[in-house]
Amino acid sequence: MTICSLAPPEMPDSRWKRSLRRRLLTWFQDHARDLPWRRTRDLYHIWVSETMLQQTQVATVVPYFQRFVERFPNITSLAAADEEDVLRLWEGLGYYRRARNLHRAAQQVVQQHHAQFPADFDTLLSLPGIGRYTAGAILSIALDQRLPILEANTTRVLSRLLAFHGDPSQRVGQQLLWAFAESLLPRKRVGEFNQSLMELGSEICIPRKPNCERCPVRMLCAAHRQGEQLSIPISRRRTQTEHVVEAAVVIRRGSRVLLRRHEDRERWAGLWDFPRFPFDPDATNNGHQQLVDKSRELTGFEIEPVRQLTTIQHGVTRFQITLQCHLAQCVSGRKRGPHLSWRMPHELEHLPLSVTARKIGRLVAKLAD
Ligand code: ADE
Repeated sequence: MTICSLAPPEMPDSRWKRSLRRRLLTWFQDHARDLPWRRTRDLYHIWVSETMLQQTQVATVVPYFQRFVERFPNITSLAAADEEDVLRLWEGLGYYRRARNLHRAAQQVVQQHHAQFPADFDTLLSLPGIGRYTAGAILSIALDQRLPILEANTTRVLSRLLAFHGDPSQRVGQQLLWAFAESLLPRKRVGEFNQSLMELGSEICIPRKPNCERCPVRMLCAAHRQGEQLSIPISRRRTQTEHVVEAAVVIRRGSRVLLRRHEDRERWAGLWDFPRFPFDPDATNNGHQQLVDKSRELTGFEIEPVRQLTTIQHGVTRFQITLQCHLAQCVSGRKRGPHLSWRMPHELEHLPLSVTARKIGRLVAKLAD
């Protein structure tokens, strides 16, 4: 690395910024995708969309957003909902803490702000699940408040515009890029401007094959000028994938099956699942005994394994999970804890389940036919 590449990038002048704003706003007018949350200025709807868009692609979010606002058209209806119904609508979108925070924040707004969604940055920051990015996005998009945003797409766009060679995820990089984002804001049409940066990042200034020929601001881009668009921003070291084996057990008692709700400290907090646990396929004691012992430990019930139903592969964050699914009969025992429940297979339709539990649930419904 040369000494030059360590120096902070030079900040562009006002003429450059004026040109950037003009070009981006014009481009956005002509190229913005028609997305459901772009047809409204309702704070509540924009808040829901921005929460869903944290860590999830636009195309995935669209149908979830539509179902969600149809079912909960305003903050009062969301606050009054059962958490299970909120999670059921979120099922499959992942990062379920977002849904629980959204629900809690709605209750907080109803109780503390007379059901008026706060239009003030600091008040928004006090709500669960709302950080600097989300607060800035909501208030700039809905109300044109002059607040910057910085998320994955804009981080890439701004790093390239500046030819920033540092690590944008580190404190120094974050400070620099937030300050740069703030310095770029126009006086008016702030929401459109912020969205144009995100749109450019998701449609043109993409990570591996940026489409510089179609970029409306390539003539202003330092990375493009220096031919560095592929190496900026520096790629973060990929965390190693870890392979794990788990078992899920469908425990039957009469026509019912045993479900377990993940507790607050667990990854799928609030979602129902079949009892599942780490499973050692190479253990000296055979798999049968492991299923019996671990089921007893987790649920309090004595079981008799019947047969293996299927194996599901699924990825969660850095884990690649092989989930062996077994059918078992309940022999005796008592429920250990309030987060266990015997349910008829048809009841599963209304409960929020983990994605794998939904798959297993469909198999179980067929067995029950
Ligand atoms: N990603 C996060 N917020 C977005 C928005 N409002 N439009 C498109 N992509 C986004």
